[in-house]
Formats: sequence, structure tokens, C-alpha cells
Amino acid sequence: MAKEEHLPLFETKKAKGRVLFRIFAASIFAGICLIWVYRVSHIPKAGEDGRFAWIGLLGAEIWFGFYWLLTQASRWNPVYRHTFKDRLSQRYENELPGVDIFVCTADASIEPPMMVMNTVLSVMAYEYPPEKLSVYLSDDGGSEITYYALMEAAEFAKHWIPYCKKYNVEPRSPAAYFVSKHGDDAVEDNHQAKDFVFIKKLYKYMENKIENAVKLGQVSDQVRSKHKGFSQWDSYSSRRDHDTILQIVIDGRDPINATDNEGCKLPTLVYLAREKRPQCHHNFKAGAMNALIRVSSNISNGKLLLNVDCDMYSNNSLAIRDTLCFLMDEEKGHEIAFVQFPQNFKNLTKNELYASLRVINEVEAHGVDGYGGPLYVGTGCFHRRDTLCGRKFSKDSKSDMKWDNRKREELGIHELEENTKSLASCTFEENTQWGKEMGLKYGCPVEDIITGLSIHCRGWKSVYCNPAREAFLGLAPATLPHILVQHKRWSEGNFHIFLSKYSPAWYAYGKIRLGHQLGYLRYSLWASNCLATLVYSTLPSLYLLRGASLFPQMSSPWLIPFAYVIIGKYTWSFVEFLWCDGTILGWWNEQRIWLYQRTSSYLFAFIDTILFSIGYTNSAFVITAKVAEEDVSKRYEKEIMEFGASSPMLTILATLALLNLCCFAGFVLEEAIAGSKGIAKAYETMSLQVLLCGVLILINLPLYQGLYLRKDKGKMPSSIAYKSMVIAVFSCVCFKLSC
Ligand SMILES: *[C@@H]1O[C@H](CO)[C@@H](O)[C@H](O)[C@H]1NC(C)=O
Ligand SMILES: *[C@@H]1O[C@H](CO)[C@@H](O)[C@H](O)[C@H]1NC(C)=O
Repeated sequence: MAKEEHLPLFETKKAKGRVLFRIFAASIFAGICLIWVYRVSHIPKAGEDGRFAWIGLLGAEIWFGFYWLLTQASRWNPVYRHTFKDRLSQRYENELPGVDIFVCTADASIEPPMMVMNTVLSVMAYEYPPEKLSVYLSDDGGSEITYYALMEAAEFAKHWIPYCKKYNVEPRSPAAYFVSKHGDDAVEDNHQAKDFVFIKKLYKYMENKIENAVKLGQVSDQVRSKHKGFSQWDSYSSRRDHDTILQIVIDGRDPINATDNEGCKLPTLVYLAREKRPQCHHNFKAGAMNALIRVSSNISNGKLLLNVDCDMYSNNSLAIRDTLCFLMDEEKGHEIAFVQFPQNFKNLTKNELYASLRVINEVEAHGVDGYGGPLYVGTGCFHRRDTLCGRKFSKDSKSDMKWDNRKREELGIHELEENTKSLASCTFEENTQWGKEMGLKYGCPVEDIITGLSIHCRGWKSVYCNPAREAFLGLAPATLPHILVQHKRWSEGNFHIFLSKYSPAWYAYGKIRLGHQLGYLRYSLWASNCLATLVYSTLPSLYLLRGASLFPQMSSPWLIPFAYVIIGKYTWSFVEFLWCDGTILGWWNEQRIWLYQRTSSYLFAFIDTILFSIGYTNSAFVITAKVAEEDVSKRYEKEIMEFGASSPMLTILATLALLNLCCFAGFVLEEAIAGSKGIAKAYETMSLQVLLCGVLILINLPLYQGLYLRKDKGKMPSSIAYKSMVIAVFSCVCFKLSC
């Protein structure tokens, strides 16, 4: 028995085959070094054609080699975690801490209230003592409709939560549950069948009411008069100018209201729209999170905080217990500041047309975990309240996650609301450490990453928890422009951190382990990949036109390192992708998106960040739309690429694709004229270049289709088709003539 008590609540396993991987990686690195040697030792003499390109390629290869090293750091030492939830219940079932869950939404027109409510309902239904659970919805849109939807969801929860617990259903987002159980014979159990029909009817009823309000664009006067909470909108002038709106929709302390249909308790549910004034900077999501941290401290003060994006429902009702296995572990729990779950998506097509975070989630995050913990990515993450509020790590402190039955001031609900409101006011943070040393940091487009980094730098570890049943599922962008914009924001924010005083390169130096630092840098330097990629995807193709060779000849021994690195690296990435359950076509699609992100998103992110750091500001937070129109969805399901409206990013992609096509065509034409002798020479000197250009054309096939063959609405806008064609042909001709 005594032994039982000392069994850990989680275990950590190192990955198998690490030695094999390290030998392989070292051999690739040797190949990379040889490529560098070749480049440096064969620079064309001044005046020779191709000297400029040669130096460009040298720069690109040095960069690629360096960045490759960063990505290897995230593969060097992967660990896998496993939790023992039964031990947790045995030891601590009655001492589980309070958990405050934050759901952030910002704009009811982009993030439909029904979607948000499904997220809210899914986290209210966690397999956890309801009196210890509180859910806060932060609505930065300050929308009456979202508020109305939350009231309706609270009513529905009184049936939904007992239903979930009675039949132990999964997932606990009603929409996802009903999709997974469509058809009348979906529920086998006769007894459940009746309840199922009933709960589904209730859901449809709620959905109808909410959708009607959305369609009307407002809630009806009849509804308004029924709930006095709506009077808080009387002083509302716009979403950028209103008082704090705060309503405790379900008060967990209230024995009558907070009871579900079966007589069990319900979690606390709170609506918050923090005060907004045009003259006050609201700091986007970080500002909302900090307001939530303060407001919740006054209402429920849970020791554990979870934040999820409004489109990320819980797909695993045991995730809180998984988390607590880490944080309440007697031996290691006190070192861990936060537990990050992977960002999974439910809306991916089979072959992931726009790529996903698959490799990052299944490989790299485990690698960073081996060095001190995953990055905080802003959703699906559990924090200790006190570390998020700035507490430093100390070796001697013990994990203090246990529930303390401290009595809260017995205020009436109305008084509690009133005296909490000031915590969410615009001016509260003036002259405080909020946004600096407390809460999420301000002034960065990826506030979460920088906040996580500063927690790591204070000495804490984090843990990556990736259970077999995905814990959170969000919506992936379903058009090309969306994914490009999303990655622009991510890479821009990360590069911004690199240049800031909190850079993982120097600020973190000495505070976290080297492997951890490299793991951070791999993301910080995302944006800087644009230059090397641009060089590599244009110069070799252009020099085909002039017949200048930029790679070793076929008979040269220098070809070996090139061949080894190219084949080795891509075989590895292919096998790795399949190992993560990807498909073959999925891998190919990922290579395309890799190229597109680097030549458009990262390029703009790079330029914007540099401009910002020398004083030009234009940074604007763009929310990506979560829900697509119907015909867009249809094409998405068929995996047809959606290009959408004209934008500079698309122009660049189209121009690059056409440039390669022109170069290839020009080259083929020339060889055809030169006859068989010319072909033999070209084979000897230009093979790698032709191969590169050919692969670029193959990978761009969907883009050519979108430019000239497709007729549907999602094709490339025709203005881009003309523009990019003119630029590409013009550049090729000029380049050829300037020889
Ligand atoms: C979500 O949870 C269900 C079980 O409810 C599971 O079958 C599924 O694999 C999980 N993940 C996804 C992507 O649906
Ligand atoms: C997400 O997937 C569901 C079903 O798979 C579909 O109905 C919905 O339209 C998709 N959403 C988007 C944004 O593509």
C-alpha cells in the first residue's frame, strides 16, 4: 500500500531509434558541409556568367544548412508522456483544484455564435466535479447575439450535461456529437434512444432560435425584455466603445439555479465583454486574456486555467485529468508551469490540401518537450494561475494544486458582478505590471509564444500532452489566402520576438537549455526562410536560359553530396510524414504549401517586421474567417485549391510559377534547336538545374490550372493571370538578352 502511494502520476519515455536517427542526421550534415565546400571552392571568376547566381546559391545553402540544424534539434531527443488517471482519482479525487476555462471570441460575424456555443458546451461537460469548474466567455465583439446565445446554451446545458454523463458520450460538443451519430439507428441502447431523440430536438430548437437572431442581426424586443442582462447594452455605442458587460449566467454557488435536470450541479458560466474605448489600446487577445484572469480571480479563482479558441471544442472529456496528472505529480509536478495540447483540426481533407500541423504536432513538439517543454501556442493549454501571473520558479516550493476550501466572501451575485466589473476596465492596467511581468505580454502579434518563453526563462518547464484521442479540435483554414495570411501572422510574430529584447537567441541565452533555444529559434526564424527559398526557386531556372551551369556536372564526384542530401532529406521527410499517419498525396501537398508559405507569407512577414523595427508601423491583426461559403466548402471537400480574390501574395506565387514554366520552355526550345549534341552537353552540365525547375513546375500544376483552365469562382482572378504572365515573360526575355 505504501508503495502504491509513491507511484508517479505520469511517465516519460524516450523515443526509440534515436541513435539511428542521430547517425543519419550526422551523415546528412557531412553532406551539407561538402556542399558548402564545393560552393566556396568553385566560385566562378569575376566576369564569368553565373558568378552572381553562384554567390546567391552559396548564401541560400548556408542558410538552408543552418535552418536544417534548427529543425534537427527538435528531433534529437523526443519524449512521449503517458498519464495514470486512475492513480490521480485514487489519491486526489476529493482534492482536485478549481479549473477556470477561458473561451475567447472576437467577432460574431466571422465566428458564428453557434460554433462558439458548441465549444462552450463541450468544455462545460468535462468529466470533472462541476462545482469546481467555471467557464468564461470573453466576447471582444461585445455582441448581444453572442450573449443571447450563451443564455440559450446555459438552458440547453441543463439537459446536455446530464445526458453526457449518463451515457458517457464523446465528443461533448453537441454539433460534433450529432454529426458522429447521424441516422436513426445511431444509438443502439433502447433506453438511450428516447433521450437521444429528445436531446437532439432540444438542440435543434436552440440552434433555430440562435440562427434566427443571427439572421435578423439582433435579438427581438420580446427576448430583451425577458432578461434584464440586456440592459447593459443600453450604454453601448459600438464594439469599440462600451462599458464592461459582465454577467454570471450560471452561478455555481447557487443551489437552485445551478442545478441540472437530474438534480446535479452545473459549472459556473460567465459572460464578459471588457470595457472598450477608442482612445485605449485593447491589446487584442492578450488583453482579453488578462481581463479574464483578473475577473475569474474574483469569481471562482481556480488554480488551473485553460484557454481555448472559440472554434476549438473539447474532443476528450478527460483532458483536465490528464493535465492534473502532470501538475499534481508529487515528484515532478512542482516544476511544470503549463501543459500544452496539440492544435488539431477536424476540417482537414484526406490529403490535407493546405497542409496541417501534423509533423509539428507528432514529431517536433515531442522533440522540444525533451528539452524543457513545448511552446505555449495560445489555445488548448492549461496554466497554473500563479505562474501566468508572474511567479518565479523555486526548487523548494511544492506543488500546491490541491483544492483549498477557503470560503469566499459571501457577496450576492449582483454585488459580485458589480465589484468585478472594474477589473475589466480600460484603465485598470495603467501603471501596473499587467502585460509586462503579469499575465500575457503585450505588443507582439503572437503574445502566447513570448509569454511561454518568459515563463520558461523564469525556470519553469512545460509538458506536451498528446493523448491518442485528440483533446481539442479546431477549424483549419479552408482557402489558400487564409492559410497564407495565418502563416504570415505567425511567422511575423515569431520574427518580431526574435528581434525584440525577449529574443530566444540572446534573452533566453543561459536561462534555458541550448536544445530548447534552438527549438524556439526554429519558429522565430520561420520568416527569414523567404530569401533563400526565393533564390533557389528563381536563379537556377533563369540560368537555364543562358546555359550557365550552377551545379556539379553529372560525372563529377561533387554530385554525390548533392544527391545524398537531396535524396536523404526528402526520403526522411516522406517516411516521417507517413509515420505520422499522413497520406502520400498529403506529403506532396505539404511540399507545395511549404513553397507557397515561404515565397509569400514569410516574405511579407519578413519585410513587414523589418519595416516595423525601423519605425514604420502597419501591423494589423487579421482574424481568419472560420466558416466558408457553401460552394467554397464543396471545392474544399473535393480538394480543389481555392485562390479567391486578387492579392499581392497570389501575384507573387503566380509569377514565380510562370517564370519557371517560361524558363523550362525556353530551355527545351533551345535544346531542340541544338540537336543531339546539345542535349548530351545539357545532360552533363544542367541535369540538376533541369530537375529543380521541373519539380517546381510539377508542384505548381494546380496553380496553372487555377490560372488558365478552371472556370469556377475559386480560380485565380484573371487580372493576376495577365499580370503574372507579362512579368514572367518580360523577365525571362530581359534575362536572356542581357547575357
Ligand atoms: C475525437 O473523439 C472521438 C471519440 O469521441 C474519436 O473517435 C476521434 O478519433 C477523435 N478525433 C477526431 C479527429 O475526431
Ligand atoms: C468543415 O467540415 C464540415 C464537415 O466535414 C463542413 O460541413 C464544413 O463546411 C467545413 N467547414 C469549412 C470551413 O470548410
